[in-house]
Amino acid sequence: MHRFCHYYQRIADQKRIRLFFNSNIDLPLVWADRVITAAVLDNLLSNAIKYSKPGKSVKIQITAKNKWVECSVCDEGPGISETDQRRLFEPGSQLTPKPTGGEPSTGYGLAVAKEYIESLGGSIWCESTLGKGSCFKFRLPRYKGNNCEESEPRDELNAQIREGDKIVKPA
Ligand SMILES: Nc1ncnc2c1ncn2[C@@H]1O[C@H](COP(=O)(O)OP(=O)(O)OP(=O)(O)O)[C@@H](O)[C@H]1O
Ligand SMILES: [Mg+2]
Repeated sequence: MHRFCHYYQRIADQKRIRLFFNSNIDLPLVWADRVITAAVLDNLLSNAIKYSKPGKSVKIQITAKNKWVECSVCDEGPGISETDQRRLFEPGSQLTPKPTGGEPSTGYGLAVAKEYIESLGGSIWCESTLGKGSCFKFRLPRYKGNNCEESEPRDELNAQIREGDKIVKPA
């Protein structure tokens, strides 16, 4: 995760956007796929930078909740109207906010992110106020494996983990 932010810092620097990363050192494990999680973060971070004007900040936070690990990417960009918010996760939805630095925009990133996150048993959503900025958040289920929680019966989700899925620790 730190490496990821380091890479994006270079892109953000070009637009004079400041990135802040905040997470607990001791985050629990989640059921996830490293490539999928990276692709989702890639779109959320690139969006936050792409739709914000120079001089703004982007904050990335990872926190452990009861049964979930939650990641949020919050920006000080244009914000998204309620009408646009209803279409955010539809494929090909290029909405009112436009890239501020000539970056490419296909309108597919969030649709793909939603499909990825939901395939891992998680969820993704947006909280935004027009004119103030947007927070995109996703959460993934905490791993219940061979640790102190193992006495709990494996729930349906854990039983459904497909071959090839990996357990990764947000780092
Ligand atoms: N952080 C944000 N602030 C304001 N508008 C946003 C933000 N993120 C997404 N949007 C709006 O939602 C639309 C869909 O975003 P999405 O990531 O799916 O596609 P994209 O960024 O246009 O293209 P791609 O992700 O394929 O490069 C964008 O075109 C933009 O209008
Ligand atoms: Mg995008």
